[in-house]
Amino acid sequence: ETLKPLAGRTAVVTSGPTHEPIDPVRYIANRSSGRQGHAIAAALARLGADVTLVSGPVTIPDPPGVTTVHVETAQQMLDAATSRLPADIAVMVAAVADWRVASSVGQKIKKQPGEAPPPLMLTENPDILKTVGHHEKRPTLVVGFAAETQDVENNGRAKLARKGADMIVANDVSPGTGIMGGTRNRVKIISAAGVEEWPDLDKSEVAIRLADLIAAKLG
Ligand code: C5P
Repeated sequence: ETLKPLAGRTAVVTSGPTHEPIDPVRYIANRSSGRQGHAIAAALARLGADVTLVSGPVTIPDPPGVTTVHVETAQQMLDAATSRLPADIAVMVAAVADWRVASSVGQKIKKQPGEAPPPLMLTENPDILKTVGHHEKRPTLVVGFAAETQDVENNGRAKLARKGADMIVANDVSPGTGIMGGTRNRVKIISAAGVEEWPDLDKSEVAIRLADLIAAKLG
């Protein structure tokens, strides 16, 4: 046990998509599988950390050795994540929906013959990473992700500052990369120290390397 570098440390990880209801049967979501976030939660636990994983709706199993809290919406994810603070480590991997339906309704919206489709009014969701990065109980190490389709490095750097993160794991999720929903990932690690480019790796390998890096940074 004394060999585990994250023994005695606590971590909060978000993973998966969020589902934002339109009505009781419909929702807005995205293609996140939760694979990368779940793998990171498991890797931190293997290094000895006490890990809470806040997961949006996914089809993959809860990772071993981790306390998993299941949520649906961004608001629920924010509440679950911030309720676990203080923590030493936060890794916000979830692909949180940027918007939710401004006034979702309790009854199924019915299709009316001859009528125009209903308009969907959206409103902005809370930013969980940004909230945690500026929180009065801010974790010692705050890690965010940046899924971009262009200008990955510059967008990652901007995100580091804006979100109050210590590290941004940036990846190119352009169609054709197969990253979103896939099993492999190619990332750049962006921090105040500079940019480190990792090769194309299985998401589980990215998770192990990231957990090692987190352990090294925490000392
Ligand atoms: O701003 P953008 O969505 O590109 O930032 C991505 C990072 O911010 C990821 O770490 C993601 O988990 C986090 N995020 C969040 N809450 C949001 C939007 C993004 O935690 N509402």
